[in-house]
Amino acid sequence: MTRRIVVLPGDGIGPEVVVAARQVLDAVSSRFGFRLAYEEQLIGGAAIDEAGEPLPDATIEACKNADAILLGAVGGPRWDDPKARHRPEQGLLGIRRALGLYANLRPVRPYAALAAASPLKSDRLAGVNILFVRELTGGIYFGQPRFTEDTRDGGRRAVDTCEYTDGEIRRIVRLAFKIAAKRRGKLTSVDKANVLATSRLWRKVVDEVAVEHRGVIVEHRLVDSTAMRLVTDPGDFDVVVTENMFGDILSDEAAVFVGSLGLLPSASLGDGGPGMYEPIHGSAPDIAGMGIANPVGTILSAAMLLRHSLDREEAAVAIEDAVTAAIEGGARTKDLGGDLSTQGMTERVLEALENT
Ligand code: IPM
Ligand code: MG
Repeated sequence: MTRRIVVLPGDGIGPEVVVAARQVLDAVSSRFGFRLAYEEQLIGGAAIDEAGEPLPDATIEACKNADAILLGAVGGPRWDDPKARHRPEQGLLGIRRALGLYANLRPVRPYAALAAASPLKSDRLAGVNILFVRELTGGIYFGQPRFTEDTRDGGRRAVDTCEYTDGEIRRIVRLAFKIAAKRRGKLTSVDKANVLATSRLWRKVVDEVAVEHRGVIVEHRLVDSTAMRLVTDPGDFDVVVTENMFGDILSDEAAVFVGSLGLLPSASLGDGGPGMYEPIHGSAPDIAGMGIANPVGTILSAAMLLRHSLDREEAAVAIEDAVTAAIEGGARTKDLGGDLSTQGMTERVLEALENT
């Protein structure tokens, strides 16, 4: 049976890193004997340019009918005009919401060989293995109503609202508990319960769900103290569950453990239906088109795609091992202080794949 993957290259370095991940997917599919068919669709700025909107209906339709979705990145200065009707990011938020992808998994596991690439002292990084479980379809990202540049009283005013229902919190928290039970059994729930009503509800729901998972140690931590603790004692964290915006911010912070934002993958999952896989980095317009972007975040996202959407654990592990071997063998793109191009790095991963 051929599995269908919708590819959303998007903007900036998105198309370059997606091409790299496809080469790796093709290599494992022939090695492990399964077939993949790709269909490219528009999203983000590229979709605004070609179709007049960041998330055309055809893209949503194709995604709904796919087995999985691989996304590059969206956004760029060309579409930054504050007066523009559409922003590329609306495409990304829209597809997350349209497919009900409420659970965003962001694993962070530093490579020993890259310890020097992190500004953190290497003894702090030993054994660090964190999984961020970020709520992805609620909170301030999807606040209603939203006014921008409201000038009712003569002065300018902007409003973003933050809303969560207990149901939205419960489903992500349950998933985080299940995952924590299979890992080291520790769950850190991050909120700002000393200030925000949504955070106080979040805390209550976490305590309710905790009763169903007695084997997991739960810790509530405020987001500001988490931001500090992450860099002072990253080894203290196992699974971190948090709301949409806190998860966005903390996962970028945690990228410093690994040495580059370009290395980190993510999976966005709902209840049934296709999952979406994308690197956590953005479209990096400053290096777009130069062929020097680090493809590893997207290659590892493809591994997550195989694991979570296609049930190909063996192929997923093969990719992850190949990336580790390439990095241990000294393969470095520019963000890691090396001089390999996107294609050069991809070839090193493909070579490692053949040799494992
Ligand atoms: C991410 C990105 C997106 C987000 C942007 C591009 C809308 O930063 O996936 O982390 O904030 O979710
Ligand atoms: Mg982000």
